[in-house]
Amino acid sequence: MNTEPDFHKPLTQMPQWHAYVKAINAAPRMAPAPRIVEAGGMQIDLTAQTYSPEVLDTATALLQARNFNAARQALFDGEPVNTTENRAAWHTQLRAPRPIEEVAEERKRALEFVRRSDSERRWRNIVHIGIGGSDWGVRLVVGAFGYASMWRNIRFVANIDGHAVEGGLAGLDPRETLIVVATKSFKTAETLENAKRAIEWMQAAGITKPLNQVIAVTANPEAAQAWGLQQSQIFRFWDWVGGRFSIWSAVGVAAGLAVGPDVVAGLQSGAKAMDDHFLTSPIQENAPVQLAMAGIANRSILDYGSLNISAYDSRLANLIPYIQQLEMESLGKSVDINGQPITVPTGPAVWGMPGTDAQHTFFQWLHQGSDGAPVDFIACQHEDHAWKEHHIQLLAHCLAQREALMNGKTFEQALRENMESGMSETDARKLAKHKVHPGGRPSNLIMMPSLTPFSLGALLALYEHKVFVQGLVWGLNPFDQWGVEYGKVLATDITAELKGAAAQAPHDASTRYWIERIRSQME
Ligand code: F6P
Repeated sequence: MNTEPDFHKPLTQMPQWHAYVKAINAAPRMAPAPRIVEAGGMQIDLTAQTYSPEVLDTATALLQARNFNAARQALFDGEPVNTTENRAAWHTQLRAPRPIEEVAEERKRALEFVRRSDSERRWRNIVHIGIGGSDWGVRLVVGAFGYASMWRNIRFVANIDGHAVEGGLAGLDPRETLIVVATKSFKTAETLENAKRAIEWMQAAGITKPLNQVIAVTANPEAAQAWGLQQSQIFRFWDWVGGRFSIWSAVGVAAGLAVGPDVVAGLQSGAKAMDDHFLTSPIQENAPVQLAMAGIANRSILDYGSLNISAYDSRLANLIPYIQQLEMESLGKSVDINGQPITVPTGPAVWGMPGTDAQHTFFQWLHQGSDGAPVDFIACQHEDHAWKEHHIQLLAHCLAQREALMNGKTFEQALRENMESGMSETDARKLAKHKVHPGGRPSNLIMMPSLTPFSLGALLALYEHKVFVQGLVWGLNPFDQWGVEYGKVLATDITAELKGAAAQAPHDASTRYWIERIRSQME
């Protein structure tokens, strides 16, 4: 990778950053005309973002100073862009039509497994056990495309909370159940413990060889073999696939079983279309880049602490945790790749809910709260059900919320509205103050033609590449997650202590109190 000086420079020492800040501060909070970028069959409307020609020019100069072209190429070439773990983040390879041999081989094996299971009408139930990146993508895909009809039941078990595995197995016939253990590391405590419960559940039903009803998807096949599985039961991926980027790998095998291999193939081709767009479009028309730069302006310059995702499609409920993990695990960092503090705020908190439920839950805060948050509105132009009226109203709500956030409502407008409703002037003035909407609140509208595997694949890759660009500009490594790793280590130690082991390291007084109390009151 090209490592010219500015690539590694702290952001705030770059003159191009200061030029960008100046341009953002001077620009209007929305574009004068619709500002729409097309990518992966979607239209991405950035009109409600701070815009001026200088904003575009200074963003471009900043990206060039960060060696954007070389960095992007390094990502696609499988270079070790994950610098703290010295490995690639080569998820784009997983959706390449002609990938490297080992990827092609595993893709073929997973497909054959799904096809064979289908032709033999095997596995009426699938229990997918995995967490984080080994879970959310499969849940998202099944939620998005499993609504119509599925002959298999699919259950998800992620949380270590025993109620999760209890509920995940409840009511299923163990003889007709396949357990999919998805874990990149094959070390994650939650997944391994839940997998044990599933095995015991089969044994309790009289199944003498429960492991015959298990497959694993992992980047640590040796550990899966040591756990008792045959090579033929293990689908592998590689350490160069980050957990939150792994839906494109055999992690999707349970999705293939639940909603069909064509869905998996469609997702991959949509993501590939977005990869091509990201690789070849000029910066100013490059959707992931423009979304990334708008996000950086909102977070680091205009001081918005969070990003709201409002998908106006109830099939996309799991898109929110999916993007939450993608963005927050990737960008929740405060030091740059040299370990120096980044002196501007980085990755926002991501939260949301499908619209229109969201409107009746937190939109009041978005419209008139003191902080506000940028919103990504996501919608489909065409519905896949029979009730046109519902879809018209759904889209109307989406556009209306966005319009209110963008344009607001002045005191004069509110006053006029009150007077026209017959109020006295005194009452109208009093109430009008409560009806003012500040407006100028940023948002994006991402419009898919309809919810197809292709469009969902493109959407997910759009966010992946956006995150990559933001990592590049902030100068951080979006591909590690040391914060999560530390928590896992502490939890392992505390688990041992709760079971009676001596403390490995001193605790604070409160943690000590709770360990002692829980331990002493355990039956
Ligand atoms: O949540 C932290 C994390 O490390 C994620 O990055 C990963 O997706 C998840 O744990 C599960 O890890 P594994 O797939 O190794 O079980």
